[in-house]
Amino acid sequence: MSCRHFLTLLDFTADELHALIKRAIELKKRHADGEIYEPMRNKVLAMVFEKSSTRTRVSFEAAMTHFGGNAIFLSPRDTQLGRGEPIEDSARVLSQMVDMIMIRTFEHEKISLFTEYATVPVINALTDSYHPCQLLADMQTYIEHRGPIAGKTVAWVGDGNNMCHSYINAAIRFNFNLTIACPESYDPDQKILSAAGDRVKIIRDPIEACQNVDLVATDVWTSMGQEDEQRKRNESFRGYIVNQKVMQQANKDALFLHCLPAHRGEEVSAEVIDGPQSVVWDEAGNRLHAQKALIDFLAKEHNKT
Ligand code: CP
Ligand code: NVA
Repeated sequence: MSCRHFLTLLDFTADELHALIKRAIELKKRHADGEIYEPMRNKVLAMVFEKSSTRTRVSFEAAMTHFGGNAIFLSPRDTQLGRGEPIEDSARVLSQMVDMIMIRTFEHEKISLFTEYATVPVINALTDSYHPCQLLADMQTYIEHRGPIAGKTVAWVGDGNNMCHSYINAAIRFNFNLTIACPESYDPDQKILSAAGDRVKIIRDPIEACQNVDLVATDVWTSMGQEDEQRKRNESFRGYIVNQKVMQQANKDALFLHCLPAHRGEEVSAEVIDGPQSVVWDEAGNRLHAQKALIDFLAKEHNKT
């Protein structure tokens, strides 16, 4: 059997993802109770970061420490990857030395190529196209606060970016409806969108897209790697802000999520992100627990091979 990886949510079945969230909630409780659980004792996670990170780096590193293992931070500035060593070679070399590899990079094709040559599980910690680990935490957070998300309606306000693509995949696997409010020419990828069928709709206007929804999620207007477009994006996305007026369109018990980092006054107003419907700190904290469940799952699957 070939090695399991986590490059997008679609790599896992709906049952596996639901079990993973359940396990994340359980591991969170066990950790809070002070229970020691060390399934990765003497194991090593390599963390390749070609982009900046606070949450992802700290959550993976803390997860490995709690699990009795170790995490090695690798940046292109001080590895041979940054000097042009082929991805195929790096994947084979790292696989000889570590038990799991986490990668944050630019083109999704790079992580796909890496995975073809890796012989240990690979986790996508964000590419230009997807951010599946964040969606594990987002789903955990919604479910903890409100119960099952199946049949609910979620609004995505902003760019049709990596987070939006992962929300589309989550709509497929967790069976919810998704309305996307994005400006024209910032639509999500057509192929990713069409795989979701009529569960997902583009409704340009944020006010309209948020009518009677159960969850509102957004993200920055300019993602990492798009800094050159910032000025143009600030123009295009003006009006794509989740403020009180937008939240008032949603159901009374609707929640607000943002993967962070956030720009108050751009994609979200301070009163929303710091207000009562926002659960962004739980969301950020759940990165730790959801990824612990992921690491544990992948390690166990790998042991079967
Ligand atoms: N949400 C998220 O992935 O944050 P970082 O970029 O800080 O890792
Ligand atoms: N869309 C953002 C997410 C950051 C966690 C980015 O790619 O920069």
